[in-house]
Amino acid sequence: MAVNSNPSRFYIGSAYYPEQWPEENWQKDIALMREAGFNVVRLGEFAWSTIEPEAGKFDFDWLDHAIAALAGAGISTVMGTPTAAPPAWLVHQHPEILAVDENGRRVQLGNRCHYCVNSTEFHRAARRVVKALAEHFGPNPHIVGWQLDNEYNRYCYCDNCRKQFHEFLKSRYGSLENLNNRWTTRYWSQTYNAWEQIPLPIGPHNPGLMLEFKHFVTESYRRFQHLQIAELRPKLASTVWITHNFMEWHDGYDHYRMTEELDIASWDWYVGTGHLDYQLSGTAHDLARGYKRRNFWLMETQPGNVDWKPLNNKVNKGETRAMAWHAIAHGADAVLYWQWRSAYGGQEQYHGSLIDQSGQVRPIYREVQQISRDIAKVTDLLSGSKPVAEVALLNCYDSRWSIQWQRHHQDFDYVSHLRHYYRPLAARNVSTDIISADAALDGYKLVIAPALLIVTPQRAANLKAFVENGGHLALTLRTGMKDEYNALLPLRQPGALAELAGAEVEDYYALFDPVPITGEDWSGVSRIWAERLKLRDDATRIIAAYGASNGWLDDQPAITAHTYGKGQVTLVGAYLDDNSQQRLLDRLIRTANIQPDLDTPPGVEARKRIRSNGQEILIVINHTRTEQHIPLPWPVYEHLSGQRFEKEIRLAGYEVAVLTRA
Ligand code: GAL
Repeated sequence: MAVNSNPSRFYIGSAYYPEQWPEENWQKDIALMREAGFNVVRLGEFAWSTIEPEAGKFDFDWLDHAIAALAGAGISTVMGTPTAAPPAWLVHQHPEILAVDENGRRVQLGNRCHYCVNSTEFHRAARRVVKALAEHFGPNPHIVGWQLDNEYNRYCYCDNCRKQFHEFLKSRYGSLENLNNRWTTRYWSQTYNAWEQIPLPIGPHNPGLMLEFKHFVTESYRRFQHLQIAELRPKLASTVWITHNFMEWHDGYDHYRMTEELDIASWDWYVGTGHLDYQLSGTAHDLARGYKRRNFWLMETQPGNVDWKPLNNKVNKGETRAMAWHAIAHGADAVLYWQWRSAYGGQEQYHGSLIDQSGQVRPIYREVQQISRDIAKVTDLLSGSKPVAEVALLNCYDSRWSIQWQRHHQDFDYVSHLRHYYRPLAARNVSTDIISADAALDGYKLVIAPALLIVTPQRAANLKAFVENGGHLALTLRTGMKDEYNALLPLRQPGALAELAGAEVEDYYALFDPVPITGEDWSGVSRIWAERLKLRDDATRIIAAYGASNGWLDDQPAITAHTYGKGQVTLVGAYLDDNSQQRLLDRLIRTANIQPDLDTPPGVEARKRIRSNGQEILIVINHTRTEQHIPLPWPVYEHLSGQRFEKEIRLAGYEVAVLTRA
């Protein structure tokens, strides 16, 4: 569909819950939103009991009024389908729609997402409410997009889910014989001779079964999501998009599969405790941008503080603005705060908001107002622009799950390891895409595949073609160990990639003590993990070797480089300390001839967004609290202040600059 993926305007706003307030309050709220410079709010995503107070009886008047009043103030609406909050009457009539937890207990009404995603009765109720919303609000010109549900997150272990799991396995494996083989079920007498014998995994289980359960959960949510899309799509204008609000590195399902049918991706970003660490949060923005490989919406972010951490500090004055610009620099086309106003009751009474319970603006309101003013100044400039990266980090949910269940070292965490490759790139302002391990790799100079445990024949072929055509590939530890059924490959690591790497893994070691390691012009340690590499080709070069440690690793190759076709493959068997990792990534950046977006002092981030006409916009953010001097390679025009700078720009703490070449 011709979705407006390059919107002609930027959006700023918040989640708004008019159903929590008498209608006479709304005008005051809306006037304050207007003064804040808002042009969008999200409505309705938890309002099922107000939208449909009884089965089949709908009340849309209040929403009609709210949308019209907002539109009157120039504020568009993102409409949420309310299925994350099945109402009391529904649960009372059909208690079987409540999910069953791992201990066999039905979850309770009163929080969110308490439904069984496969419940027929729940599907019926969800379809009914979404259909009614679609028919009534589908043609509404003030609605720019729809959000389905909110933060899918629950697993259900009811009998119905188990039956459906069996159907899922039947269609995937065809026969029990095949399934038994793939899962090596003779091991510990797990051989199945009827589909009904197969359990839903609770706790550690057969690796094949565990992986398929994750696939089943993904397919269950896809089906549920599709049911809503099928009702909505035919009723929407072609420019109105559909999304879901995802949670960054949530591991409940495969987000690439989940976003296939959505028009744009959106996500909610909360710092929680502490402060913005842009080299960490950058991964989450780039992850969201990678789902659809296009700009995304930041559908929720914290105005100051959250309420669900052990310590809910407010971020510093100025930091919220830095957060907004950080998101935009990484490809957000909208920034929405959660939430507009603190409700008197409900579970989130202490959460940050722009308007407090008395209806007065909190101090942070002024900062958000400034963000709106900033955005208004550069909307035309930024419209249609997007980050463009020469480096890709591959992300694979199957590999992540598999490692998470069999970490082998308690401190080995898939996402931390991926971030260990991201951080040195971020420190150099190298734009990076985080994309599916199955995505096309055209246009990248450097591809890093952190802990790509599962290597399918298709993936191996993709990576091979990439390197043959001149790409630089970095493979890391734990790569190429398993197939798509979570079984060990009958090959040494990195499996089918060994030929490209010109090396293989003789053995792997979870480390009790760090192991010394010496590179070409650096020395450091490997911690957590080390792989002993063996060269397979005379042309393979040793980039780093282990020093004396456990005997097995002493003097053995730790990192190798190999030329293959027109490209190069680096195989990293070590989990380096931070300094050595920076040296390694600097080497990769250099050899792959990657251009950083700008050289900046530590704590200052610079990211480019590129317009369709090729014009580069440089967003520079001082994430520190002190003034920073940033040397400029060319004279620039700064769009927020309207000033020109020749050789240097100075940014006060948390200050932001939006630059183009003068
Ligand atoms: C999000 C959720 C919101 C709100 C917010 C509080 O995860 O989508 O509804 O609960 O957290 O931080």
